[in-house]
Amino acid sequence: MDIHSEKILILDFGSQYTQLIARRIRENQVYCEIFPCNADFEKIKEFGAKGIILSGGPSSVYDANSPDVDSKVFELNVPILGICYGMQLICKHFGGIVAKADHREYGRSILNINDNKDIFKDVSNDNKLTVWMSHGDRLEKKPDGFEVIGFTENAPVAAMRHIEKPIYAIQFHPEVAHTVNGSKIIKNFIVDVCGCLQVWTPGNFIHAEIERVRERVGDKKVLCALSGGVDSSVVAVLLHQAIGENLTCIFVNNGLLRLNEAEQVIDTFKNHFKINLVYVDAEEKFLEVLKGVSDPETKRKKIGNLFIQVFEEETKKLGDFDFLAQGTLYPDVIESVSFKGPSATIKTHHNVGGLPEDMKFELIEPLRELFKDEVRQVGLQLGLPAEIIGRHPFPGPGLAIRVLGEVTKERLDVLRLADAIFIEEIKKAGLYNEIWQAFTVLLPVRSVGVMGDERTYEHVAALRAVTSLDGMTADWAHIPYEVLAKVSNRIINEVKGINRVTYDISSKPPATIEWE
Ligand code: XMP
Repeated sequence: MDIHSEKILILDFGSQYTQLIARRIRENQVYCEIFPCNADFEKIKEFGAKGIILSGGPSSVYDANSPDVDSKVFELNVPILGICYGMQLICKHFGGIVAKADHREYGRSILNINDNKDIFKDVSNDNKLTVWMSHGDRLEKKPDGFEVIGFTENAPVAAMRHIEKPIYAIQFHPEVAHTVNGSKIIKNFIVDVCGCLQVWTPGNFIHAEIERVRERVGDKKVLCALSGGVDSSVVAVLLHQAIGENLTCIFVNNGLLRLNEAEQVIDTFKNHFKINLVYVDAEEKFLEVLKGVSDPETKRKKIGNLFIQVFEEETKKLGDFDFLAQGTLYPDVIESVSFKGPSATIKTHHNVGGLPEDMKFELIEPLRELFKDEVRQVGLQLGLPAEIIGRHPFPGPGLAIRVLGEVTKERLDVLRLADAIFIEEIKKAGLYNEIWQAFTVLLPVRSVGVMGDERTYEHVAALRAVTSLDGMTADWAHIPYEVLAKVSNRIINEVKGINRVTYDISSKPPATIEWE
């Protein structure tokens, strides 16, 4: 079975929600890809989608230079769904009128459904639906050949359908969670209207990818840099299932890992999965280059460069490899082709820990079609422990950017113990999975305290826990006082060298998640 033959194409007009559309389609077990809206028509045609979705976007269709869709797309004879800006484009192409709405409509709205067939099948019992709107323009007059299938108080044409062709347009965003049954609307479109079979499942993906890797690699050799994070772990296990002994993983312990992390990685991959794992203990080298360094960006650069150096040295010892495996995910792929241009995200400085650019390998990227949530599902299905799959993100430079100021082994060890207690307690309190990231930071100050009758003068730890959807913005987690009290108590009692614990209550922006 070809899991890619059942597919939808999304043309991106720059909406902040475009990736969400893709995720909703994938959740409904249909493959999809996102192309920039100005993609070449031949490329669009060649892709061979069973349906096309025109995304929303920030522009107004009548602005000079606003992005448009090639009208040949409407002659492809595949079903089309326009969302928000996508709807306005359809309106313009078919001769309707789009104008500025008197009221910008933003937020929840009630959609009145005129016709509960096809895309609106089984989404509401009373033909009313709470939907999420986000638009300034609206349809003043529907184009000829279309019929209105839904309206709201502010938008007389909030949903319409072509009378003869399978072309649909909706003003609201079915992809956001605030639209009730939005995922069902998308499913109705991709499954009922476009006729896609729901074959995009983790099991089918694994099966297909293993075949694809085997075909490409044959009996050549693949090298994989394993960090113990979700992405590289899933890559390693997937490739191991595909090519077994021909995969070698290198795991570099830079001495900046969390408590027992290196042991866990070795135990999981070497002992449990029986993967060819080369363990490199480079702790001393990393501590050496970090001596006397307290500037965060210098730390990142030094760690990044040394990582490349160590990796190259080890690879040379291991002989020749034909392929280098990487855990590139679909959002990285989209960002690099986005019509807005690569977005100014947090990414660039986060690529520290990246691999040498001039190495003469072919890249193999088994996850490049997947979103993070799909990677997690694939990982679980491959038998990776839930602890690895659900682990909070961890920065490449590791604890070096959580020991503020100069990094020493002594301070790293203190931090590791305190951090392990914090994580253990939020897990016990059942909070770990609700939190995007939780960790402890060791501050570069000392504080006076009293223990027994003794005056102490020791380290201060800051606890940081944030909730977030993507790490771009974040709020500090409202952890119950009782949990914080327990953590503070345990850290001060159990970790020699810390006599004061604080909780960070800053949001991002303006603060960042990490302190350095
Ligand atoms: P900030 O601190 O910028 O972090 O709000 C956002 C997310 O990125 C992670 N982060 C990094 N990841 N190398 C990485 O691989 C880095 O240098 C780095 N700095 C921050 C951070 O942990 C959070 O998840």
